[in-house]
Amino acid sequence: MTISLALVGCGEVAQNGHLPAILRNPQFKLTAVCDIDPARLASICRQAPEVATYTDWRTLFAREKVDAVVLALPPEVSPEVAVMALEKKFAVLDEKPMAATLAEGRRLQRAVTELGGVYQVGFVLRYGQWVERVRQAIPSLGTPLSISVEVYDERLDPTDQEHLARILAFIQNSSAMTHEGSHVIDYVSLWHPLPWTSASARAQQTSPAFTGPNLWNATIEFVDHSVLNVKIGWLLPTLPPSTVTVVGPEGRLDFDCRTGRGHIDVGGVEQPLVAPPLTPSWDRQYEAFAAAIQTGHVACATSIDGLRALEVTAACELSARRGVAITPDDLEDDASATGDHPLKASSAFRSESSASRNGDEEPRRRK
Ligand SMILES: NC(=O)c1ccc[n+]([C@@H]2O[C@H](COP(=O)([O-])OP(=O)(O)OC[C@H]3O[C@@H](n4cnc5c(N)ncnc54)[C@H](O)[C@@H]3O)[C@@H](O)[C@H]2O)c1
Repeated sequence: MTISLALVGCGEVAQNGHLPAILRNPQFKLTAVCDIDPARLASICRQAPEVATYTDWRTLFAREKVDAVVLALPPEVSPEVAVMALEKKFAVLDEKPMAATLAEGRRLQRAVTELGGVYQVGFVLRYGQWVERVRQAIPSLGTPLSISVEVYDERLDPTDQEHLARILAFIQNSSAMTHEGSHVIDYVSLWHPLPWTSASARAQQTSPAFTGPNLWNATIEFVDHSVLNVKIGWLLPTLPPSTVTVVGPEGRLDFDCRTGRGHIDVGGVEQPLVAPPLTPSWDRQYEAFAAAIQTGHVACATSIDGLRALEVTAACELSARRGVAITPDDLEDDASATGDHPLKASSAFRSESSASRNGDEEPRRRK
């Protein structure tokens, strides 16, 4: 069976990730694309000249009889499109994060439950071989675990104003924690799938020209007293290494996500941990999406996975605004985490970052 597909949102991740993966997978046939920006459509059509083009996704949905849609949209736009796609019985592959606010994420998750159908979140990093290697190694370390993940990306390049504008829009309308951190929460949930009990985070803005914080330092605690520390850094002129360290009572694991090299030390015996470095696994993601469409069953990166990541990153955002640890119950009580427009949040972050310029923030750690 060939799966006919429409791509909605033709920006950076669509052009460099989704489109090449779709074109090299014979199970899919791209028939239509949509973007509000005609220049983006023109760019896609240079790689896929046969496809129909639309500037309005509602018109595409009304006219095209596709099996599936890929949504590569900003998260403040995508939930409404995803719900409508599910109503049209299209299978959906939806870029992470699944929404910009928890309220929207919950609304979408409810729609997935009520409408049924196939809905998969674009957590493309969870398919990496190194994620699986770490998952296999973790039981030998014992519990409770102390997991540290540091991710530095989106390097500040003053000559690339298009990149800067795109990242500043993400920071303004959502957060680096929700965009980048959601990947981390997702793949750590494969290693340690227990409920979280609290999240505390500090956010820092390293330039007044930015639209919100670009550095995050978050600590998430789990019911078994394991702890996850996440550091996210965007828009730095040079990027420190992106690393994973897991320490347990029986041993430790270290992995450099960029070089793909690390080691596991259990009971004083050290073994190398070598895996392809942190690169998106587009082909595996599309294999999983095709299998979900053919079986009608989403086996990975479900709406529950997407919502879990969104809850944790929303708790981190709320913690950074309030300066206190946030529990799952606090999220239920707080309108700004579950309902308010995120722009309100980013202005609150800015005052937090001026506190950091006055010396209240811990210095940035470089490895
Ligand atoms: N999976 C990954 O590793 C990964 C990597 C990068 C980005 N992303 C995610 O993908 C999403 C998009 O990121 P991007 O970097 O491609 O951003 P982008 O800004 O380059 O692209 C978004 C596109 O959506 C279009 N758009 C906005 N509103 C629209 C609407 N109503 N109808 C049709 N098109 C509309 C914009 O014109 C733009 O071309 C974000 O949520 C981001 O977090 C994921």
